[in-house]
Amino acid sequence: MTATVDQTDTGNLGDDNIARKWSYRYPELGIGAVTTDRFISQEQFDRERRDVFAKSWVNIGSVHDLDGNSSFFTRDIKVLGASLLVVQDKKGDIRAFHNVCSHRQNKLVWEDKGPCSQFISCRFHGWAFSQQGNLASVPDDGEFHFDAGGDAPAQSELGLVAVHTEVWNGFIFVNLGENPESLEEYLGPLGTSLKDFPFQDFELRNKYEVPDDANWKVVLDAQNEIYHIPMLAPQHRFLGGGAFATNEDGYTRLADFELMGLHTVFTSDSDPNWHDTPLRSLMAKLRVITPHFTLRDPFVFHVLFPNMVIGFLGDFMFTYNIWPEAVGHSIWEIRMHFPRAKSLADRVTHDLMKVRFRDLLCEDVAGHAAIQEGLESRARSIFVMGDQEIQIRAFHKNLDDYMNRANNA
Ligand code: FES
Ligand SMILES: [Fe+2]
Repeated sequence: MTATVDQTDTGNLGDDNIARKWSYRYPELGIGAVTTDRFISQEQFDRERRDVFAKSWVNIGSVHDLDGNSSFFTRDIKVLGASLLVVQDKKGDIRAFHNVCSHRQNKLVWEDKGPCSQFISCRFHGWAFSQQGNLASVPDDGEFHFDAGGDAPAQSELGLVAVHTEVWNGFIFVNLGENPESLEEYLGPLGTSLKDFPFQDFELRNKYEVPDDANWKVVLDAQNEIYHIPMLAPQHRFLGGGAFATNEDGYTRLADFELMGLHTVFTSDSDPNWHDTPLRSLMAKLRVITPHFTLRDPFVFHVLFPNMVIGFLGDFMFTYNIWPEAVGHSIWEIRMHFPRAKSLADRVTHDLMKVRFRDLLCEDVAGHAAIQEGLESRARSIFVMGDQEIQIRAFHKNLDDYMNRANNA
């Protein structure tokens, strides 16, 4: 991506009306193509695992995965090469540990989630750890050489191995690097821009884990633009309602795009009178569902580098975590959050939205494997992006820059 942008002279008009205005505003992103080997190369995949996922802040869940004080959940995350145990202790503090017993490295907790008693015990020989990860008791401990000096480790050194953990607006992030910057620094202006959003008023209502036969970046790229909305398939055109307005030529347009360091956000041009699908409008009229309200702009899509998305569509919030499993295989984790329901009509509203969104995403998933096959055929070594795909350009540039920095550090 080395080509530079033609700095079109916009005279006194500003750049609002020129074609390709986002490239004009962000010349540092260039206008070149992206190489396709990055989606099919094992070497690239290994670099991403080593230089990106092992060093950046990665969202592994949220407070919705916990049941309050004295509870836990576990996550086996292939791209991190780790099983993680997240514990909220009896005071409410949240910590993540490698889910590995300090004795002979057995997997410590095998359940997905549950209440966490005062001690967490290993099923192999019964070593027990406190909620804070300290080694609390060892059966037959007189037979060990703890604190004996020489090569014998001190018992106090045999707690669980903690990983850097921070919680932001209820989202739990870990960083497996050695001395990471704070999560606040990492999120930078994107974190600040969402500072006042009332995340605490939202509850997690649905979760999907979709196996996807495509590289994780294929999955992200396919979501990280709205160029395809009018063209792809019927549900895309129909179920988006007025969130994705089309211009007189029938094309969607970005209303805004912002590059925020490693992260990006875009909004779609929406119908100024934000209407909805005919079915939903009818149901709202009949009061079967609650009238539509809009959280912010009808469609907002934040990409939190490397693999998380926080989006808003109409009156609900969705998150994606796109987990690389292998070069050509990913897990697309989709979560839907709604404001707390106050009435039966609210529940129906949310369920209707859930079904619409699910059907819309099914159309996306159907295409991912076909894109991966196209890439793997090596028919072409590059792909190009239009100005309405500047988010994708930004993501790949950020990915390259991040890996290059890691290699030069
Ligand atoms: S491996 Fe856990 S107590 Fe032995
Ligand atoms: Fe789509």
